[in-house]
Amino acid sequence: MEAREQWGTRAGFIMAAIGSAIGLGNIWRFPAVAYDGGGGAFFIPYLIALLTAGIPLLIMEFTIGHKYRGSAPLSYSRMSKKTEWIGWWAVFVAFVISTYYSVIIAWAMSYSVFALNQSWGDDTEGFLFGEYLQVADAGQIGSLVPGVLIPLIIVWVITLGVLFRGVQRGIEIANRIFIPALVVIFLIICIRAVTLPGAALGLQAFFEPDFSAITSGEVWVAAYGQIFFSLSIAFAIMITYSSYLPKKSDITNNAFITGFSNSSFELLAGIGVFAALGFMATQAGVGVDEVVAGGIGLAFVVFPQIINAFPALSGLFGFLFFLSLVLAGLSSLISISETYVKGISEKFNISRAKSVAIGGGAAALLSLIFATNGGINFLDAADYFINQFGVALIGLVEVIVVAWFLRKLPEFQEHANGVSDIPLGLWWRVCLGIITPIILGYMMFSLFVQNLF
Ligand code: PFF
Ligand code: NA
Repeated sequence: MEAREQWGTRAGFIMAAIGSAIGLGNIWRFPAVAYDGGGGAFFIPYLIALLTAGIPLLIMEFTIGHKYRGSAPLSYSRMSKKTEWIGWWAVFVAFVISTYYSVIIAWAMSYSVFALNQSWGDDTEGFLFGEYLQVADAGQIGSLVPGVLIPLIIVWVITLGVLFRGVQRGIEIANRIFIPALVVIFLIICIRAVTLPGAALGLQAFFEPDFSAITSGEVWVAAYGQIFFSLSIAFAIMITYSSYLPKKSDITNNAFITGFSNSSFELLAGIGVFAALGFMATQAGVGVDEVVAGGIGLAFVVFPQIINAFPALSGLFGFLFFLSLVLAGLSSLISISETYVKGISEKFNISRAKSVAIGGGAAALLSLIFATNGGINFLDAADYFINQFGVALIGLVEVIVVAWFLRKLPEFQEHANGVSDIPLGLWWRVCLGIITPIILGYMMFSLFVQNLF
């Protein structure tokens, strides 16, 4: 049997894990979620979620990958013959996400070019849905949008090229370039943002604590949801990446570094985004609350407006902003695509090259659906479905099976402590065996109730 691929250096693994974690979730999801969840007060549920669920689960997933040395399906099947399906379910969700995440990165790539001379014009919303995405009336939808096609091909060529080159020569090198570059670029953007006129108003709106918000269960659910999504937990990613760790690797410490780096970046993004929103509100003569946005609207409608209003060097800063989305997105897309590339290759005993061609090829072809002039509607539907039935539910099943059915936590604790400096104690088992299932169970229950009524 061929020896298992391995990371070349500890920093390589950490960069790759951070690269997966830092994504669009940090840049366009976190700031809006925090603002809606009580601003400065949101940090309380957020930090509690990070420490009681995020990092403990990350440690568990790192341990599973390190101990069983397989992609998610193989690791689960080695844990117990009966649980291989959990791995495949996570891989399936990852596959679906990759088909539309790639399209969003393609948009960001186009926008980095549009930014140079603000060719999106004054009506940025009309531009996005009109000229660029060519969203048509029902009846005419289904034709490919040429403007999206070329960047989408570039996105897949880079992603599949990196995966084809393998763990050390591909994933590790890419992340060692992308992540430091991303951090530097993002710092430059944030420094510029906080020195814009009106930035202080935005920061005030972001940090001003509304303590009444955190008495609502919904805000706690939002905090846990953000942590899961943001740390790439229950996506099959972290199990796959940690399966390439050398035998002697500090699991627990690596999980803390990954968790805190991701949250630091998230905080930085919150500061940058809200400083820019404060600037925009000031220019428009309205309150910050009137311009707050998240998701696609923030990135492709509001940010172009902010760039339009920039006092100087707007082309450069617009380019850097969209480049940061591209870098953050690519490193996440690489990680999520590696889950099925490795999963397929191990299950069917085929080479990495073949499984990149089959798995990656299928994902790239399917992504074309989202590059049509009705694609944005499919994208919304897919994202909704995935968020409801994907990540949180898999996370819940994962902890219940591992902690309660297979009763693996003591064994995993011993495994992690055997290689790590920071010893895991009873707190870790309590977090995973009790707190996390209760919160995730409540989360699924309230989602269910919301959908019923
Ligand atoms: N951790 C990522 C984020 O915060 O954006 C979530 C993610 C999404 C990871 C999509 C990977 C991925 F392909
Ligand atoms: Na993240």
